[in-house]
Formats: sequence, C-alpha cells, structure tokens
Amino acid sequence: MASILTSLGRTVAAGFVLLILIVLAAGSVDLASDGWQRFVLRWLHVMSGILWIGLLWYFNFVQIPSMPKIPDEHKPAIGKVIAPTALFWFRWAAAATVVLGLLTAIINGYAHQAFTLQPGVQAIGIGMWLALIMAFNVWFIIWPNQKKALGIVAVEADAKAKAARTAMLTSRINTLLSVPMLYMMVAQQNGGL
Ligand code: HEM
Repeated sequence: MASILTSLGRTVAAGFVLLILIVLAAGSVDLASDGWQRFVLRWLHVMSGILWIGLLWYFNFVQIPSMPKIPDEHKPAIGKVIAPTALFWFRWAAAATVVLGLLTAIINGYAHQAFTLQPGVQAIGIGMWLALIMAFNVWFIIWPNQKKALGIVAVEADAKAKAARTAMLTSRINTLLSVPMLYMMVAQQNGGL
C-alpha cells in the first residue's frame, strides 16, 4: 500500500482502478452505450474543472493571503517552486476543462443553442460563457503576467510589481466569476434556473 501512496502517479492510477471495480461490481451500466460514453466525458470534464477551480481557490484562499506572512528569505520556496508547479496544473486543467466541456456540449447537440442562450439550455450557456472568460483570463492575462512576476521572464522591478498586481486582480475576478459559473454548470441538470 505504501508503495502506491508514496507515488502520486500510482495513487491516481489506483483511484481509477477502484472506480472500475466499483462500476463493474455495481454491474448496472451498459459500458458500450452511447449514454454512458457521454457521461464519462462529462465526468472527465468535472474532474479537470475541479483541478482548475481547486487551484484557483488555493491561490486566492491560501497562497496570496499567506505571502505577506512569509519571511523574505523563505519567499523563493513559493515563487520558484510551488507557484510554477501550481500554475502548470492550473493552466492545463483550464484548457482540458474547456475542451472536455465544449465536447460535452457538441456531443449532446446543444452547443449552438447554449452559446446563443436559448430557453432550455440557457443555464449551461451562461456557465459556458463565464468559464470561457475565466479560461481566457488564465491563458492570456494571469499566465503571461505571472511569468514576469515569478521571474520566468526577466523584466524591470516596477514592471514585475505591476505584473504581479494584474495577475492577482485577474485571479480575484476569476474567483468572483467562479461563483455564478459553478451555479450555472450544475443548474442545467438540477433545475436551478
Ligand atoms: C469553458 C469551459 C466549460 C464548458 C464549455 C463547460 C461545459 C459544460 C457542459 C456542456 C456540461 C453539461 C451540462 C448538462 O448537459 O447538464 C457541463 C457540466 C458540468 N460542468 Fe462544465 N463547462 C466548463 C467549465 C467548467 C468548470 C470550470 C467547472 C468546474 C468544476 C465545471 C463543472 C461542471 C459540472 C460540475 C458539471 C456537471 C453538471 C451536472 O451534471 O449536474 N465546468 N459543463
């Protein structure tokens, strides 16, 4: 067991194996059915969405408020090690969530109706627009500014401070948007709008 839990890759793989065992034991789904395959796509979408928004909330609930309390000599541990790793998973989880979410909408046959906010798919349409704005912010505002703020791209000290503030404020905007976005995502199936 310890050999599984001491490796992140093996731990995640074990989670997938456990899921397969539970699904097979329950024995109530038709794995070849179109409906189940669409469901798996939606589930993968939710998994990547949780990784993305989990990291967004980690930045906003934990890392940003903790930075002023960390002594200067220890700050590089965050700036040089933790933040770059978190940002790697953050931006790629955002990309995966968008792709899997768009595929879900296309395969369910309502992508166009949702994007034009038609009755019946208005909730998911609003959720998709909000999440797309958030993903745009991740890739085209937060990440380029974080590269300057973390020293991955070399810039002058004042440009670095400005980039850090822009990244922080945009990350706050995404935290704000995440509240209605998640409501709209789950409202579609559960009668929330
Ligand atoms: C541009 C990005 C996104 C797109 C295009 C998108 C699209 C979709 C679509 C089409 C569905 C299926 C809705 C339905 O038919 O019921 C869905 C469901 C869902 N999405 Fe997203 N989504 C995006 C971002 C996110 C994010 C960031 C999260 C965060 C966790 C998320 C969480 C969920 C959840 C939990 C459901 C399941 C709803 C349910 O079955 O009740 N989505 N999404």
